Amino acid sequence: MREPHVPGVRFEAVDKFFGAHQVLHDITLDIPRGLTTCIIGPSGSGKSTLLRCTNLLERPQRGKIFVEGTEITAPSTDLDALRTRIGMVFQHFNLFSHLSVLDNVTLALRKVRRMKRPEAEALALEQLDAVGLKGFERRRPSALSGGQQQRVAIARALAMKPEVMLFDEATSALDPELVKGILGVMRDLAASGITMLVVTHEMRFAREVAGQVVFMDQGRIVEHGPPDRLFDAPESPRLTHFLDQVL
Ligand SMILES: Nc1ncnc2c1ncn2[C@@H]1O[C@H](COP(=O)(O)OP(=O)(O)OP(=O)(O)O)[C@@H](O)[C@H]1O
Ligand SMILES: [Mg+2]
Repeated sequence: MREPHVPGVRFEAVDKFFGAHQVLHDITLDIPRGLTTCIIGPSGSGKSTLLRCTNLLERPQRGKIFVEGTEITAPSTDLDALRTRIGMVFQHFNLFSHLSVLDNVTLALRKVRRMKRPEAEALALEQLDAVGLKGFERRRPSALSGGQQQRVAIARALAMKPEVMLFDEATSALDPELVKGILGVMRDLAASGITMLVVTHEMRFAREVAGQVVFMDQGRIVEHGPPDRLFDAPESPRLTHFLDQVL
């Protein structure tokens, strides 16, 4: 049994620099297990960098990050193993264009999880079905719409049965009519009780789905709390100004 009070992700005094430029300042935050946390904030505020630190695509210079109680910033962390525990979906889908949809989803299952092909394919088909892509498994990514490609990317991440899902502006590159479908998939996922950390410009999604909203500006967490509190009663002038611009 996992301890119920251990957060899905914990950031403790995380600082990140690119050269001399400090882009994350003393980030201390708990991402509750089983809930969706949405990160909002202006461009360049460090949202993507924080997400990328969570699966060690970037390494913070100071501070610690824990996933379900295990410190991942420890030098001994096995990166391949870590990335099976944390699924990440980006704005651009990063699918392999020379592989079928099915092979895109099974690749990591076979190479990292060392599953046999039939077992990996059965799991992949189940995930593809769950994101609304039944019957698309033999296609190449180039024969899919952007929204369908993003569904493949989500299925690929979910197939690993991650403890945490990270989404970085997963709908930003999509045509407007496709956004709703992907937000629907993310909504269902949130309702399934997986821990999610979602960078988004979709304020309605954040308000309706998030258990916690985090507002970042200039590499700092300025405010965080339940969505109603942040959206209806922002405390800082910076958040008030940001909401005036985006709502
Ligand atoms: N690899 C890198 N090398 C140097 N600087 C970087 C690198 N990645 C990000 N930065 C800088 O770090 C800061 C934070 O960037 P980040 O991408 O995290 O912002 P963001 O909040 O995700 O912005 P956006 O909403 O535009 O995606 C910016 O000033 C950016 O220029
Ligand atoms: Mg970003």
